[in-house]
Amino acid sequence: MNRTLDRDQATNKAAPLQHQTGRETQAFGTLVPMPLGLDEASRKANIERLNQILADTMTLRDLYKKHHWQVAGPTFYQLHLLFDKHFEEQDTLVDLIAERIQLLGGISLAMAPDIAETTKIPRPPRGREPVPVQISRILESHEIVLKTARDAAKAADENDDLGTNDLLVSNVLRTNELQVWFVAEHVVDTPVVRADAKGA
Ligand SMILES: [Fe+2]
Repeated sequence: MNRTLDRDQATNKAAPLQHQTGRETQAFGTLVPMPLGLDEASRKANIERLNQILADTMTLRDLYKKHHWQVAGPTFYQLHLLFDKHFEEQDTLVDLIAERIQLLGGISLAMAPDIAETTKIPRPPRGREPVPVQISRILESHEIVLKTARDAAKAADENDDLGTNDLLVSNVLRTNELQVWFVAEHVVDTPVVRADAKGA
């Protein structure tokens, strides 16, 4: 082997191996055994509920970013900032829920087409909507998540999955409830300058 061939061989070894294919190592919907002291039936039931909440949380997160970009009017700046804060908090929940699904031995949903097929939150139009409509959409979405998460928390408690129960109560419910308050107060019809405008 001459010096040129030696050099080619070394170069090829350092090259990235691209365009590889292979079979899935775990099919969606299946469970791998995990030494958690939880039976398979309860892990499976909790994973299915968590995937629904994950899809709805990713949709609500993205709804906040849409409205962060598209908000307009006199409350633009405060809502622009508030919507982005809530986006970040929902994004934290997404990671917590998805990793809980994985640690239970399941597979978390991840990609946009799968989320779109699964979420119960109605699809908003691509166009821009006025602030009261943006807020109504957000509040209705929160309520969908809250109802599903509350039912899932009770079920997780009943089947001994206290870690999932804690995640749903301490993180999902508490975050969503607080965000509802912060958003809902923006659609209370209060006078801006004169307290008794009608009697004036
Ligand atoms: Fe931004």
